[in-house]
Amino acid sequence: MQGRYRALWLNEEGYLEVIDQRFLPFEKRTLIIKSAQQCARAIKNMTVRGAGVIGNTAAFGVYLAARQSSGKIEEVRKEAKNIRESRPTAVNLMWAVDRMLEVAEKCTASDMAERLKKEAVAICDEDVVRCRSIGKTGADIFEKIMKEKNRNSINILTHCNAGWLAIVDDGSALAPIYELHRRGVDVHVWVDETRPRNQGANLTAWELSEAGIKHTVIADNTGGHLMQHGMVDVCITGADRVSLSGDVANKIGTYLKALAAKDNKVPFYVALPASTFDFSIEDGLKQIPIETRSEDEVKFIRGRTKSGSLEEVQIVPDGSRCANYGFDVTPARLITGLITERGVCEAKKEAIAEMFGDIL
Ligand code: MRU
Repeated sequence: MQGRYRALWLNEEGYLEVIDQRFLPFEKRTLIIKSAQQCARAIKNMTVRGAGVIGNTAAFGVYLAARQSSGKIEEVRKEAKNIRESRPTAVNLMWAVDRMLEVAEKCTASDMAERLKKEAVAICDEDVVRCRSIGKTGADIFEKIMKEKNRNSINILTHCNAGWLAIVDDGSALAPIYELHRRGVDVHVWVDETRPRNQGANLTAWELSEAGIKHTVIADNTGGHLMQHGMVDVCITGADRVSLSGDVANKIGTYLKALAAKDNKVPFYVALPASTFDFSIEDGLKQIPIETRSEDEVKFIRGRTKSGSLEEVQIVPDGSRCANYGFDVTPARLITGLITERGVCEAKKEAIAEMFGDIL
């Protein structure tokens, strides 16, 4: 790979090509995906990850299902169901599959594959526009924070990876950071490593390095200390599913950062496109399904040895059990604002309903 890629794209043969995120930042590999089943597998094993990009992969998966089918809608529905169930928390996945199926239901056997291809591409292209808009709104807010503090630099803390690897093409949480950088603002990012899969250390740090943005990777436990000492001006994360009342499911550990932010009067923003809302859910804590993953992701850690090989090593005693919850829910009361493509919105049912009334 060279230069700036999207996280996924259609290649010349009409197959899906993705950046294999399991090997970053050490190896830059891509994977060609030729079937709906392979799409489901790539989502499940986190070849691709991040709410937006798993939605995009799912959309292309439905297209590939049509392409490999005999044109019968039942075959496409079956594969779509399998893709829809590949991960449970990020609602963009279900949203994208449902949108694709809605189109599929209106197609004939002969035009289905082509129309679904166009729809999947359209979802990706719309994400690009949404991210740009989130970036502009977020950057305006952050510039205001700097102005109020009479400063011309800003320290931003983020958790997990919500950059262009997670949602095409500027990300959600990183979009305002990329925009500030484009505006020439002196921005520095505290990057939570984000155990157990280290999306912060591996992916966010890589994205920011590639873009030439100042950043420092910190152990997950560090944010509270930094906030107590005035070293964080604002926190921003992405989201995997947001309830109608503004509760936010995001990568495990987000809640603890929001608590520390509240205690230290540090603004805590969440950036998301409208496709991350689940308007059918009011109580995020009770109703958002939280993914649990293999204990091995906690038990082992992967990295590059001094001799340059990629290896996995065990960090837990043989006899210890591990628990691996992928996400947590940050209650709306801890969130300063939701930065969306339509502008910033209070994390409250009334405000969300007012801004998104037409798609509720
Ligand atoms: O398990 P992951 O890596 O898919 O989790 C990703 C996150 O939690 C991101 O913060 C989230 O998807 C927001 S970015 C669109």
